[in-house]
Amino acid sequence: MKQLMITAWMITGTVFLFSCNNSTEKDSAMKTPVETKDTSFKPTEMLDSTNAIAKTIENIQAAFKGETTASAKYAAYSKKAVEEGLHEIALLFKAASKAENIHANNHKSVLMESGVAVPVIVPEFTVKSSQENLEDAIKGETYETSTMYPDFLKTANVAGNQLALISLNYAYKTEKKHKVMYEAALAALLNNTVKSLPSVFYICPTCGNTYESKAPSRCGISMTSGDKFIKIITL
Ligand SMILES: [Fe+2]
Ligand SMILES: [Fe+2]
Repeated sequence: MKQLMITAWMITGTVFLFSCNNSTEKDSAMKTPVETKDTSFKPTEMLDSTNAIAKTIENIQAAFKGETTASAKYAAYSKKAVEEGLHEIALLFKAASKAENIHANNHKSVLMESGVAVPVIVPEFTVKSSQENLEDAIKGETYETSTMYPDFLKTANVAGNQLALISLNYAYKTEKKHKVMYEAALAALLNNTVKSLPSVFYICPTCGNTYESKAPSRCGISMTSGDKFIKIITL
């Protein structure tokens, strides 16, 4: 059986593939370089604007899927917290679910403005105990804020896609707050102090920004007037 070895050389943003065959056939030891259009080899820093434009659309589609799934998942986690008698944690999950829904709709708008088909998403997740659900939520928010959104923002910046930058930035800044809120909720659950957690949340309808206990006069991310905020106080 023939073994195939592929060597990739990256020269000023262009990928060349050399195909090497370990068979005894002398004339097949080295093939002529073949230029490919595969952008998967390129780190963000090496994307040219043409590739970044296409990659940004892919990223927004992925972000739309992620936010749609997160919204459905947190709504289910909220119901689980109700079952466990954890009212304040259920409210937090409900508030975050609403925020993720706003992010999904913003990303959807970017796709529609770009004339791109909006993918049909069937959310897939597993509901466990509220402690495990909080741990899962922290993991998800950590990935989004440390890896996914920073990378997507860099690419959108190279692409010069202003709508994508706005939508991605709204989500990125909100998810950083969600991460802190989930960490506080998990600590309270482990310390038996859940009743001390906030029992009122305010969501900015523009960017999903999430406030505990009190709404400001203007959103700290999108400057939306505080009187437009969505108040989450009941389950
Ligand atoms: Fe979030
Ligand atoms: Fe906002």
